[in-house]
Amino acid sequence: MKALVLSGGLGTRLRPITHTSAKQLVPVANKAVLHYGLESIAAAGITEVGVVVGDTAAEIEDAVGDGSKFGLDVTYILQEKPLGLAHAVMIARDWLGDDDFVMYLGDNFVVGGITDLVDEFRRCRPDAQILLTRVSDPRAFGVAELDANGQVVGLEEKPERPKSDLALVGVYFFTPAIHEAVRAIRPSWRGELEITHAIQYLIDTRAEVRSTVVQGYWKDTGNVTDMLEVNRTVLEGMVRRIDGEVDEASQAIGRVVVAEGARIVNSRIVGPVVIGSGTVVSDSYVGPFTSVAENCRITDSELEFSIVLRDSSIQGVGRIESSLIGRHVEVTPAPCVPSAHRLILGDHSKVQIRS
Ligand code: DAU
Repeated sequence: MKALVLSGGLGTRLRPITHTSAKQLVPVANKAVLHYGLESIAAAGITEVGVVVGDTAAEIEDAVGDGSKFGLDVTYILQEKPLGLAHAVMIARDWLGDDDFVMYLGDNFVVGGITDLVDEFRRCRPDAQILLTRVSDPRAFGVAELDANGQVVGLEEKPERPKSDLALVGVYFFTPAIHEAVRAIRPSWRGELEITHAIQYLIDTRAEVRSTVVQGYWKDTGNVTDMLEVNRTVLEGMVRRIDGEVDEASQAIGRVVVAEGARIVNSRIVGPVVIGSGTVVSDSYVGPFTSVAENCRITDSELEFSIVLRDSSIQGVGRIESSLIGRHVEVTPAPCVPSAHRLILGDHSKVQIRS
Protein backbone atom coordinates (compact mmCIF):
# COMPACT_ATOMS: atom_id res chain seq x y z
CA MET A 1 0.00 0.00 0.00
CA LYS A 2 1.23 3.50 -0.87
CA ALA A 3 0.39 6.99 0.43
CA LEU A 4 -0.37 10.00 -1.74
CA VAL A 5 0.08 13.19 0.28
CA LEU A 6 -1.39 16.35 -1.20
CA SER A 7 0.73 19.38 -0.48
CA GLY A 8 0.13 21.37 -3.62
CA GLY A 9 -2.28 24.23 -4.01
CA LEU A 10 -1.61 27.93 -3.94
CA GLY A 11 0.31 29.41 -1.07
CA THR A 12 -2.08 32.30 -0.67
CA ARG A 13 -5.16 30.71 0.86
CA LEU A 14 -3.60 30.25 4.28
CA ARG A 15 -5.66 31.48 7.15
CA PRO A 16 -5.63 32.63 9.94
CA ILE A 17 -1.96 33.43 9.44
CA THR A 18 -2.05 35.35 6.17
CA HIS A 19 1.15 34.46 4.50
CA THR A 20 2.24 33.19 1.15
CA SER A 21 3.80 30.12 2.69
CA ALA A 22 2.50 26.57 2.34
CA LYS A 23 -0.55 25.95 4.49
CA GLN A 24 0.62 22.39 5.17
CA LEU A 25 3.44 23.92 7.21
CA VAL A 26 1.23 25.66 9.81
CA PRO A 27 2.76 24.63 13.14
CA VAL A 28 0.91 22.79 15.89
CA ALA A 29 3.00 22.54 19.07
CA ASN A 30 5.95 23.84 17.03
CA LYS A 31 5.70 21.12 14.38
CA ALA A 32 4.22 21.44 10.90
CA VAL A 33 0.80 19.84 10.37
CA LEU A 34 2.32 17.98 7.40
CA HIS A 35 4.92 16.39 9.67
CA TYR A 36 2.21 14.84 11.84
CA GLY A 37 0.61 13.41 8.71
CA LEU A 38 3.87 11.88 7.50
CA GLU A 39 4.56 10.47 10.96
CA SER A 40 1.16 8.80 11.11
CA ILE A 41 1.69 7.30 7.65
CA ALA A 42 5.04 5.88 8.79
CA ALA A 43 3.47 4.62 12.05
CA ALA A 44 0.85 2.74 10.00
CA GLY A 45 3.66 0.82 8.27
CA ILE A 46 3.49 2.57 4.89
CA THR A 47 6.86 3.62 3.47
CA GLU A 48 6.29 4.57 -0.18
CA VAL A 49 4.95 8.11 -0.25
CA GLY A 50 4.20 10.35 -3.23
CA VAL A 51 4.02 14.02 -2.25
CA VAL A 52 2.06 16.19 -4.68
CA VAL A 53 3.54 19.70 -4.78
CA GLY A 54 2.67 22.91 -6.60
CA ASP A 55 3.61 26.58 -6.16
CA THR A 56 5.24 26.01 -2.80
CA ALA A 57 7.30 22.97 -3.87
CA ALA A 58 10.60 24.43 -2.65
CA GLU A 59 9.30 25.01 0.88
CA ILE A 60 7.71 21.56 1.10
CA GLU A 61 10.83 19.82 -0.23
CA ASP A 62 12.91 21.76 2.25
CA ALA A 63 10.71 20.58 5.13
CA VAL A 64 10.37 16.92 4.05
CA GLY A 65 13.58 16.13 2.15
CA ASP A 66 13.83 12.56 0.88
CA GLY A 67 11.56 11.43 3.72
CA SER A 68 14.28 9.44 5.49
CA LYS A 69 13.90 11.43 8.72
CA PHE A 70 10.35 10.02 8.91
CA GLY A 71 11.44 6.55 7.82
CA LEU A 72 9.76 7.15 4.43
CA ASP A 73 10.80 6.95 0.82
CA VAL A 74 9.37 10.14 -0.72
CA THR A 75 8.82 10.83 -4.42
CA TYR A 76 7.71 14.34 -5.43
CA ILE A 77 4.97 14.68 -8.04
CA LEU A 78 4.63 18.14 -9.54
CA GLN A 79 1.13 19.42 -10.19
CA GLU A 80 1.51 22.53 -12.31
CA LYS A 81 -1.87 23.96 -11.36
CA PRO A 82 -4.14 23.11 -8.42
CA LEU A 83 -6.88 21.65 -10.57
CA GLY A 84 -8.41 19.59 -7.81
CA LEU A 85 -7.89 16.58 -5.58
CA ALA A 86 -9.06 14.14 -8.25
CA HIS A 87 -6.67 15.82 -10.71
CA ALA A 88 -3.84 15.08 -8.26
CA VAL A 89 -4.81 11.39 -8.35
CA MET A 90 -4.78 11.54 -12.16
CA ILE A 91 -1.28 12.96 -12.42
CA ALA A 92 -0.01 10.45 -9.86
CA ARG A 93 -1.44 7.52 -11.89
CA ASP A 94 1.93 6.20 -13.12
CA TRP A 95 3.55 6.42 -9.70
CA LEU A 96 0.55 4.76 -8.02
CA GLY A 97 0.47 1.86 -10.49
CA ASP A 98 -2.11 -0.73 -9.44
CA ASP A 99 -1.49 -0.36 -5.72
CA ASP A 100 -4.08 0.49 -3.09
CA PHE A 101 -3.33 3.82 -1.46
CA VAL A 102 -4.28 6.25 1.26
CA MET A 103 -4.73 9.79 0.03
CA TYR A 104 -3.82 12.21 2.80
CA LEU A 105 -4.44 15.96 2.52
CA GLY A 106 -1.33 17.64 3.88
CA ASP A 107 -3.25 20.39 5.68
CA ASN A 108 -5.40 17.96 7.71
CA PHE A 109 -4.67 16.84 11.25
CA VAL A 110 -6.10 13.57 12.58
CA VAL A 111 -5.53 13.22 16.31
CA GLY A 112 -4.41 9.71 17.16
CA GLY A 113 -3.07 8.87 13.69
CA ILE A 114 -4.40 6.47 11.06
CA THR A 115 -2.95 3.08 12.00
CA ASP A 116 -6.30 1.51 12.98
CA LEU A 117 -7.94 2.89 9.84
CA VAL A 118 -5.21 1.48 7.60
CA ASP A 119 -5.61 -1.91 9.30
CA GLU A 120 -9.39 -1.79 8.85
CA PHE A 121 -9.06 -0.92 5.16
CA ARG A 122 -6.54 -3.72 4.61
CA ARG A 123 -8.88 -6.18 6.35
CA CYS A 124 -12.12 -5.25 4.59
CA ARG A 125 -10.76 -3.77 1.36
CA PRO A 126 -13.86 -1.96 0.03
CA ASP A 127 -13.37 -0.04 -3.23
CA ALA A 128 -13.05 3.14 -1.19
CA GLN A 129 -13.16 4.07 2.45
CA ILE A 130 -13.82 7.62 3.64
CA LEU A 131 -13.64 9.27 7.03
CA LEU A 132 -16.31 11.59 8.36
CA THR A 133 -16.44 13.88 11.35
CA ARG A 134 -19.11 16.10 12.86
CA VAL A 135 -18.45 19.82 12.36
CA SER A 136 -20.35 22.94 13.34
CA ASP A 137 -20.24 24.53 9.88
CA PRO A 138 -20.23 21.81 7.20
CA ARG A 139 -20.41 24.37 4.36
CA ALA A 140 -16.60 24.58 4.30
CA PHE A 141 -16.26 20.84 3.60
CA GLY A 142 -17.41 17.93 1.51
CA VAL A 143 -20.60 16.66 3.23
CA ALA A 144 -21.96 13.11 3.38
CA GLU A 145 -25.54 11.94 3.47
CA LEU A 146 -26.07 8.54 5.10
CA ASP A 147 -29.09 6.24 4.94
CA ALA A 148 -30.73 4.61 7.97
CA ASN A 149 -28.10 1.84 7.94
CA GLY A 150 -25.24 4.31 8.04
CA GLN A 151 -24.40 3.69 4.37
CA VAL A 152 -23.16 6.72 2.37
CA VAL A 153 -25.73 7.55 -0.28
CA GLY A 154 -24.61 10.99 -1.38
CA LEU A 155 -21.70 13.40 -1.17
CA GLU A 156 -21.72 17.11 -1.89
CA GLU A 157 -18.78 19.49 -2.08
CA LYS A 158 -19.20 22.64 0.05
CA PRO A 159 -23.00 22.70 -0.16
CA GLU A 160 -24.89 25.87 0.72
CA ARG A 161 -27.54 23.75 2.43
CA PRO A 162 -25.73 20.74 3.91
CA LYS A 163 -27.80 17.56 4.29
CA SER A 164 -25.89 16.59 7.46
CA ASP A 165 -23.15 17.81 9.77
CA LEU A 166 -20.83 14.99 8.67
CA ALA A 167 -17.81 16.48 6.91
CA LEU A 168 -15.38 14.54 4.78
CA VAL A 169 -12.01 14.33 6.50
CA GLY A 170 -9.01 14.65 4.20
CA VAL A 171 -7.92 11.02 4.52
CA TYR A 172 -9.27 8.61 1.92
CA PHE A 173 -8.50 4.97 1.18
CA PHE A 174 -8.69 3.78 -2.41
CA THR A 175 -8.25 0.69 -4.51
CA PRO A 176 -7.36 1.21 -8.21
CA ALA A 177 -11.14 1.52 -8.84
CA ILE A 178 -10.69 5.26 -8.24
CA HIS A 179 -8.72 5.73 -11.48
CA GLU A 180 -11.75 5.12 -13.70
CA ALA A 181 -13.80 7.44 -11.46
CA VAL A 182 -11.39 10.40 -11.67
CA ARG A 183 -11.39 10.10 -15.46
CA ALA A 184 -15.19 10.00 -15.61
CA ILE A 185 -15.94 13.27 -13.81
CA ARG A 186 -16.07 16.89 -15.03
CA PRO A 187 -14.76 20.05 -13.28
CA SER A 188 -17.03 21.55 -10.60
CA TRP A 189 -18.33 25.13 -10.38
CA ARG A 190 -14.99 26.08 -8.81
CA GLY A 191 -13.13 24.64 -11.80
CA GLU A 192 -11.66 21.70 -9.88
CA LEU A 193 -11.88 17.97 -10.42
CA GLU A 194 -13.38 17.07 -7.05
CA ILE A 195 -12.50 13.81 -5.32
CA THR A 196 -15.96 14.08 -3.76
CA HIS A 197 -17.49 13.69 -7.24
CA ALA A 198 -15.20 10.76 -8.05
CA ILE A 199 -16.39 8.99 -4.88
CA GLN A 200 -20.00 9.81 -5.79
CA TYR A 201 -19.30 8.15 -9.17
CA LEU A 202 -18.17 5.02 -7.30
CA ILE A 203 -21.40 5.07 -5.27
CA ASP A 204 -23.51 5.55 -8.41
CA THR A 205 -21.76 2.66 -10.18
CA ARG A 206 -22.44 0.41 -7.16
CA ALA A 207 -18.87 0.13 -5.98
CA GLU A 208 -18.45 -0.45 -2.24
CA VAL A 209 -17.81 2.82 -0.40
CA ARG A 210 -17.47 2.53 3.36
CA SER A 211 -17.37 5.32 5.88
CA THR A 212 -16.04 5.65 9.40
CA VAL A 213 -16.89 8.51 11.74
CA VAL A 214 -13.84 9.81 13.59
CA GLN A 215 -13.26 12.30 16.37
CA GLY A 216 -10.25 14.52 16.93
CA TYR A 217 -9.93 16.17 13.55
CA TRP A 218 -8.65 19.60 12.62
CA LYS A 219 -7.86 21.70 9.61
CA ASP A 220 -7.22 25.39 9.36
CA THR A 221 -10.50 27.02 8.41
CA GLY A 222 -9.47 30.42 9.73
CA ASN A 223 -10.82 29.77 13.20
CA VAL A 224 -8.27 30.72 15.86
CA THR A 225 -10.21 29.04 18.67
CA ASP A 226 -9.94 25.71 16.84
CA MET A 227 -6.24 26.22 16.24
CA LEU A 228 -5.59 26.96 19.93
CA GLU A 229 -7.64 23.90 20.82
CA VAL A 230 -5.67 21.50 18.59
CA ASN A 231 -2.46 23.01 19.94
CA ARG A 232 -3.74 22.30 23.45
CA THR A 233 -4.63 18.69 22.62
CA VAL A 234 -1.19 17.98 21.19
CA LEU A 235 0.65 19.71 24.05
CA GLU A 236 -1.30 17.61 26.55
CA GLY A 237 0.29 14.48 25.10
CA MET A 238 3.86 15.77 25.29
CA VAL A 239 6.59 14.41 27.51
CA ARG A 240 8.78 16.78 29.57
CA ARG A 241 12.16 17.40 28.01
CA ILE A 242 14.66 20.13 28.78
CA ASP A 243 17.45 20.31 26.22
CA GLY A 244 17.96 24.06 26.43
CA GLU A 245 19.07 26.18 29.39
CA VAL A 246 16.90 26.96 32.40
CA ASP A 247 18.80 29.21 34.81
CA GLU A 248 18.67 28.89 38.58
CA ALA A 249 16.29 31.78 39.01
CA SER A 250 13.72 30.06 36.76
CA GLN A 251 11.17 27.30 37.27
CA ALA A 252 9.94 24.86 34.64
CA ILE A 253 6.95 23.04 36.09
CA GLY A 254 5.30 19.94 34.63
CA ARG A 255 5.29 18.98 30.96
CA VAL A 256 7.66 21.59 29.62
CA VAL A 257 9.72 21.12 26.46
CA VAL A 258 12.65 23.50 26.06
CA ALA A 259 14.44 22.83 22.78
CA GLU A 260 18.17 22.86 22.48
CA GLY A 261 19.46 26.39 22.07
CA ALA A 262 16.51 27.96 23.92
CA ARG A 263 17.12 29.91 27.16
CA ILE A 264 14.84 30.53 30.12
CA VAL A 265 16.09 33.34 32.33
CA ASN A 266 14.48 34.45 35.59
CA SER A 267 11.10 33.14 34.42
CA ARG A 268 8.35 30.72 35.38
CA ILE A 269 7.12 28.19 32.83
CA VAL A 270 4.06 26.12 33.75
CA GLY A 271 3.37 23.26 31.32
CA PRO A 272 2.24 21.97 29.05
CA VAL A 273 4.41 24.40 27.12
CA VAL A 274 6.87 24.09 24.27
CA ILE A 275 9.66 26.60 23.67
CA GLY A 276 11.52 26.42 20.33
CA SER A 277 15.25 26.59 19.76
CA GLY A 278 16.92 29.98 19.77
CA THR A 279 14.05 31.49 21.79
CA VAL A 280 14.85 33.47 24.94
CA VAL A 281 12.26 33.89 27.68
CA SER A 282 13.37 36.36 30.33
CA ASP A 283 11.65 37.93 33.34
CA SER A 284 8.38 36.39 32.15
CA TYR A 285 5.64 33.85 32.85
CA VAL A 286 4.59 31.33 30.21
CA GLY A 287 1.51 29.37 31.24
CA PRO A 288 -0.32 26.20 30.15
CA PHE A 289 -1.09 25.31 26.52
CA THR A 290 1.38 27.69 24.94
CA SER A 291 3.71 27.05 22.00
CA VAL A 292 6.49 29.52 21.33
CA ALA A 293 8.34 28.72 18.10
CA GLU A 294 12.00 29.28 17.21
CA ASN A 295 13.99 32.49 17.64
CA CYS A 296 11.43 34.46 19.64
CA ARG A 297 12.02 36.90 22.51
CA ILE A 298 9.54 36.93 25.38
CA THR A 299 10.66 39.63 27.79
CA ASP A 300 8.97 41.03 30.87
CA SER A 301 5.57 39.66 29.81
CA GLU A 302 2.99 36.97 30.61
CA LEU A 303 1.69 34.54 28.03
CA GLU A 304 -0.89 31.79 28.36
CA PHE A 305 -2.98 29.51 26.08
CA SER A 306 -1.37 31.01 22.99
CA ILE A 307 0.70 30.27 19.91
CA VAL A 308 3.64 32.42 18.87
CA LEU A 309 5.25 31.67 15.52
CA ARG A 310 8.93 32.07 14.81
CA ASP A 311 11.05 35.23 14.95
CA SER A 312 8.55 37.26 16.97
CA SER A 313 9.08 39.33 20.07
CA ILE A 314 6.81 40.24 22.95
CA GLN A 315 8.26 42.76 25.28
CA GLY A 316 6.94 44.50 28.41
CA VAL A 317 3.24 44.22 27.58
CA GLY A 318 1.71 42.56 30.62
CA ARG A 319 -0.53 39.54 30.04
CA ILE A 320 -1.47 37.99 26.70
CA GLU A 321 -3.98 35.12 26.55
CA SER A 322 -5.80 33.04 23.91
CA SER A 323 -3.76 34.66 21.14
CA LEU A 324 -2.19 33.62 17.89
CA ILE A 325 0.84 35.67 16.94
CA GLY A 326 2.39 35.26 13.49
CA ARG A 327 5.97 35.30 12.26
CA HIS A 328 8.28 38.32 12.66
CA VAL A 329 5.71 40.13 14.83
CA GLU A 330 6.71 42.73 17.42
CA VAL A 331 4.49 43.42 20.42
CA THR A 332 5.75 46.32 22.54
CA PRO A 333 4.24 48.88 24.91
CA ALA A 334 3.03 52.20 23.48
CA PRO A 335 4.48 55.47 24.80
CA CYS A 336 2.39 56.77 27.75
CA VAL A 337 1.35 60.01 26.06
CA PRO A 338 -0.96 60.14 24.21
CA SER A 339 -2.91 57.32 25.80
CA ALA A 340 -3.66 55.36 22.64
CA HIS A 341 -3.14 51.97 21.04
CA ARG A 342 -0.76 51.96 18.09
CA LEU A 343 -1.36 49.13 15.64
CA ILE A 344 0.22 47.95 12.42
CA LEU A 345 -1.87 44.93 11.45
CA GLY A 346 -1.64 42.75 8.37
CA ASP A 347 -4.59 41.71 6.20
CA HIS A 348 -7.33 39.73 7.99
CA SER A 349 -5.82 40.49 11.43
CA LYS A 350 -8.08 40.43 14.46
CA VAL A 351 -7.29 42.37 17.63
CA GLN A 352 -9.22 42.54 20.90
CA ILE A 353 -8.36 45.56 23.03
CA ARG A 354 -9.54 46.18 26.60
CA SER A 355 -11.13 49.60 26.37
O1 DAU B 1 -9.92 19.10 4.38
C1 DAU B 1 -11.03 18.32 4.08
C2 DAU B 1 -11.70 18.85 2.82
O2 DAU B 1 -10.67 18.88 1.79
C3 DAU B 1 -12.87 17.97 2.37
O3 DAU B 1 -13.93 18.06 3.31
C4 DAU B 1 -13.37 18.40 1.00
O4 DAU B 1 -14.36 17.52 0.56
C5 DAU B 1 -12.20 18.39 0.01
O5 DAU B 1 -12.62 18.84 -1.27
C6 DAU B 1 -11.09 19.29 0.51
O6 DAU B 1 -11.56 20.62 0.52
P1 DAU B 1 -10.68 21.93 0.48
O7 DAU B 1 -11.29 22.93 -0.45
O8 DAU B 1 -10.52 22.40 1.89
O9 DAU B 1 -9.30 21.47 -0.10
P2 DAU B 1 -8.04 22.35 -0.37
O10 DAU B 1 -8.16 23.12 -1.63
O11 DAU B 1 -7.71 23.13 0.87
O12 DAU B 1 -6.93 21.26 -0.57
C7 DAU B 1 -6.64 20.25 0.38
C8 DAU B 1 -5.17 19.87 0.30
O13 DAU B 1 -4.83 19.39 -1.00
C9 DAU B 1 -4.20 20.99 0.59
O14 DAU B 1 -3.11 20.45 1.30
C10 DAU B 1 -3.77 21.47 -0.78
C11 DAU B 1 -3.81 20.20 -1.59
N1 DAU B 1 -4.17 20.37 -3.01
C12 DAU B 1 -5.37 20.99 -3.33
C13 DAU B 1 -5.76 21.13 -4.63
C14 DAU B 1 -7.06 21.78 -4.99
C15 DAU B 1 -3.36 19.87 -3.99
O15 DAU B 1 -2.28 19.31 -3.70
N2 DAU B 1 -3.75 20.00 -5.31
C16 DAU B 1 -4.92 20.61 -5.68
O16 DAU B 1 -5.22 20.69 -6.89
